[in-house]
Amino acid sequence: MCGIVGYVGPNDTVDVLINGLRRLEYRGYDSAGIAVVDEAGDLTVRKRSGKLARLEELLSESPVGEGHTGIGHTRWATHGGPTDANAHPHLGDNGKLALIHNGIVENFAELRAELEAAGVTLESETDTEVVAGILGREFARLGDLEAAFRAVVPRLHGTFTLLATHRDEPGKIVAARHHSPLVVGLGDGENFLGSDVAAFVSFTRRAVAVNEDNIAIITPDGVRVTDFAGAPVEYREFEVEWDAEAADKGGWSSFMAKEINEQPEAVANTVRGRIEGDHVVIPELEALGDDVLRGIDRIIIIACGTASYAGQVGAYAIEQWARIPVEVQLSHEFRYRDPVLSDRTMVISVSQSGETMDTLMAVKYAIERGVKTVSVCNTQSATIPRESDAAVYTHAGPEVAVASTKAFIAQITALYLIGLHLGRVRETLAPEDSAAAVAQFETLPEKVREAVETHDQIAQLAHWMADTRSVLFLGRHVGYPIALEGALKLKEIAYIHAEGFAAGELKHGPIALIDHGQPVFVLVPSPRTAPLMHSKIVSNIQEIRARGARVIAVVEKGDTSVLPYADDVIRLPLADALFEPLLQVVPLQWFALELSTAKGLDVDQPRNLAKSVTVE
Ligand code: M6R
Repeated sequence: MCGIVGYVGPNDTVDVLINGLRRLEYRGYDSAGIAVVDEAGDLTVRKRSGKLARLEELLSESPVGEGHTGIGHTRWATHGGPTDANAHPHLGDNGKLALIHNGIVENFAELRAELEAAGVTLESETDTEVVAGILGREFARLGDLEAAFRAVVPRLHGTFTLLATHRDEPGKIVAARHHSPLVVGLGDGENFLGSDVAAFVSFTRRAVAVNEDNIAIITPDGVRVTDFAGAPVEYREFEVEWDAEAADKGGWSSFMAKEINEQPEAVANTVRGRIEGDHVVIPELEALGDDVLRGIDRIIIIACGTASYAGQVGAYAIEQWARIPVEVQLSHEFRYRDPVLSDRTMVISVSQSGETMDTLMAVKYAIERGVKTVSVCNTQSATIPRESDAAVYTHAGPEVAVASTKAFIAQITALYLIGLHLGRVRETLAPEDSAAAVAQFETLPEKVREAVETHDQIAQLAHWMADTRSVLFLGRHVGYPIALEGALKLKEIAYIHAEGFAAGELKHGPIALIDHGQPVFVLVPSPRTAPLMHSKIVSNIQEIRARGARVIAVVEKGDTSVLPYADDVIRLPLADALFEPLLQVVPLQWFALELSTAKGLDVDQPRNLAKSVTVE
């Protein structure tokens, strides 16, 4: 939620900020704005509601003078609607200080009252303008931006990353973080700040993750980090694994289309380096110690949205291979239920961004209760993996589209690898089962590629179904979370009512929804490797077909059993039952994308959403 970028250096600041905002726009697109201190020492702000393109239009109508210090923001609205007035940056100290913010300041009403009592007039409904006002007053009192930050941040309750620049201190940006992400980009004679490395990856791949409750001060010649009291803090540099090109759309019509196509590599890269002969060995788990892994008697997977569906798929495999009970809980529900935890519980969080606030808070809760925490994450040096005892990174590369696709497939892959690692260490996994799973992984990228090639068939289907108002998805076992994921994708980017059901649940109520022409996607498990489930789902297909459903069956190649009852059949390569979700989800992703496109919607930036949900 909200993208933040800061730049100090010799290059054209507006260009650097717009480049950063373009890469961060997936974090929110309700408004965009920049503030630049120009060579004459003036602080100029340009901001506008709507997407970044609207800010660019404004900048071409009303350019900003050349400057070498600037901050930029792309907003996901919390306090106050998506208006020009509520767009960031906000001003303090009579227009001499500009501030941008990601997060929510919970005690803003009290701070607002304090400012209003002092005669300060506020122009927006935001919590951010209140902080700008308070910070401006402290600057006026102390004459130093860093000192003003130290005076203000302890007074703020809630979550924040703040970046500010002051006209009287050109060439400097001060930033603070508390429960919201902040990274520094290290350049040569220039430095950067961002909500994530995408903000500056076009210019440098040298980065520093700023720790919780730290302040970062950047100038063209240096970076300093302190705690909130001003004591120096040492920081560690890391190299960003991907380059700017990886986060570009290339020739694709959307980031989502590009990312669906990148799924074979996402699987291959997540597996790479984690297989030894017929076994899975994850060095990051080895570091926890085999005794710890053997002692675990329960696993709780915590995640939100698509990541939670990956968790649900992973739970089946971990239970099967490691014989540990696994449950999946939504992160935002976890800590409110007073969960029963012990030092033999392991919490595995799943998060593409590694910054989802609900998941971060759940992980912190688990850590406070002495539970071992493992993070499955796609974003290098994000907060959740850094807080956890072990991080098993997915290597899907940057995912920009709000709708998660390649990260989902990589999350399932990583969870399966964890299941196989645990099964080996705990001696619950027969060597032949380990070898069979490893063999599946070897051919999986190619099979995912074949699943990606269903695109043209799905595009045709979506074309015929462009007026559809409701779609149902049915699955059993690992197919059930895929049904949920198929429905989520459709709701999220095509704004079509959709629901996923466990096929066995149908007769307990949802079958009443079936009416003439109701489209139902059915994920049919392999008759070779899951014959019992297969026959049950074929019966389910007959039941809904008898009531008028339009059946779209997703089957493995060669399965002709559904032909008499299906209106459309999507054929996928053969895989063992546990590995089918990694193929079945792909046509469902295409279906959502194609319906969204058919409706003329923005596939990558659906309404009301942001990629990274960094507020609770
Ligand atoms: O970054 P995370 O994986 O923690 O995000 C979790 C969810 O917000 C995310 O998966 C969301 O459901 C996706 N937009 C769905 O496509």
